[in-house]
Amino acid sequence: MILAQITDLHVRSPNLPSHFQFEPVQMLKNAVARLNGLKPRPDAVIVTGDLVDCGRPDEYELLAETLAPLEIPHYLIPGNHDHRDNLRETLRSRHPYLPETGFLHYVVEDYPLRLIGLDSTTIGDDKGLLCDERLSWLAARLAEAPDKPTLLFMHHPPFRTWMREMDALNCRNGDKLRALLADHPQVERVACGHVHRPIQVRWEHAIASVSPSTAHQLHLDFEEPLTGYTLEPPGFLLHLFDPEDGIISHMVQINPFPGPFDFHPTARADLRKDLV
Ligand SMILES: [Fe+2]
Repeated sequence: MILAQITDLHVRSPNLPSHFQFEPVQMLKNAVARLNGLKPRPDAVIVTGDLVDCGRPDEYELLAETLAPLEIPHYLIPGNHDHRDNLRETLRSRHPYLPETGFLHYVVEDYPLRLIGLDSTTIGDDKGLLCDERLSWLAARLAEAPDKPTLLFMHHPPFRTWMREMDALNCRNGDKLRALLADHPQVERVACGHVHRPIQVRWEHAIASVSPSTAHQLHLDFEEPLTGYTLEPPGFLLHLFDPEDGIISHMVQINPFPGPFDFHPTARADLRKDLV
C-alpha cells in the first residue's frame, strides 16, 4: 500500500487581501498534479490539517474545487486554521466519512494499514488538545483491532520539535496520547502537520513525523522565536506499507527539477580500472 500525506495547504479566499508571497491554490494544484502523476499511484491520501487559511466556507469551496482533479481517495482532518463546522457543512457531502456531529475524527478500514484520523483542534485556540472525550474515543477504536498495523494522523504534533514557537502551539497533552500508545504496539506511525517542515522522532515504540507543507515552510531556527516562513521547495510524504517491512517513508518535492541523468557506469569503470 502507498499512502501519501499532504499537509498545511492554507487555501486562502480570493475575497481576502493576501499577505502571502506565494499562491497556495496554485501550489496545491501542483501537488495534485504530482500525486496523480506518481507511478504507481498512491492508494490513498491523508490531508493533515490547515486545509484553508481562515476557516471560511468560500475557502472550503475553493479547496474542494482544487482537490476535485485528485484521482485518489483522500481523507481530511482539521488544523488550527480550520473551522470544524464550516469544514463539515461545506465538505461532508463530498467526504461522507466525516461525522455528522462532534469532533472530526474517524477510522478508515479499507486498507492493510488501518488509518485513524484525529481532530486535535480547539475552537478559538491555535494550540492542540486531545481531551478526555477524544482520548476515550481513540482508546475504544484501538481496542477494536489490536493486531492490525495502524497509522494515526493528526494536525498538532504531540511531541517536542525544538521549534520554540511551534512547540508552544503543539498538542498540549501529548503525554496522555503517549501513555495510551504504550498499550497499543499496533500503532506504527503518528503522522502530523502544523510545523511546515519534515521532522521525525522515535515516540514510544512508534515513529512520529511531520510532513512539509504543500505551500510555505517555516524558517528553521532553534534559538529565536518564530522568524517567519520561507519559500523552500514544497513537498509531501509517501508512506509505503508492507506487512513485513512496516512503514517506509519518502519525502517528495513537488516542483519540477532537472534529471534523472544517466550515471554512465561504463565510463566510471574505465576511470577506476587502474586503481589498486
Ligand atoms: Fe499550517
